[in-house]
Amino acid sequence: MLTKEEQKDIEEELKVVPYKKAATTEALKIIQKHRGWVSDEAVKDIAEFLAITPDEVDGVATFHSLIFRREVGKHVILLCDSVCCYILGYRQILVQLHKKLNIQFGETTTDGKFTLLPISCLGTCDHAPAMMIDNDLHQDLTPEKIDSILEKYP
Ligand code: FES
Repeated sequence: MLTKEEQKDIEEELKVVPYKKAATTEALKIIQKHRGWVSDEAVKDIAEFLAITPDEVDGVATFHSLIFRREVGKHVILLCDSVCCYILGYRQILVQLHKKLNIQFGETTTDGKFTLLPISCLGTCDHAPAMMIDNDLHQDLTPEKIDSILEKYP
């Protein structure tokens, strides 16, 4: 069931779209902001709230790679695997993250703190290799920088 706060946030979005279905992406983002990810139950609740089918909501959710349909850790690491980052040291960064966190892509650390995911170009190719943690962009990465970066996330 959507919380009052979630409903209120989605209703705000409905004021600026021409019809309910057009608020689907924003509704998904709102749920993810509040809960960290979007469960099957939340998909059904959004569908009911917007008077569309769960499949329509899921279609939008799965189209957007940054809508998480599985539970993620407290912090999500998005490591760019596109060409500039790949050429400029992506592999060493990945190895260091594996070493430090003991997880592969798509996995979450046992303490629930970090989830590691690949992402296409973050738009900062001149500062490759790059990754994002939550909303923070980390550029010009080296394996030596990884430990101190991760320590900033409690
Ligand atoms: S290729 Fe990694 S930021 Fe563009």
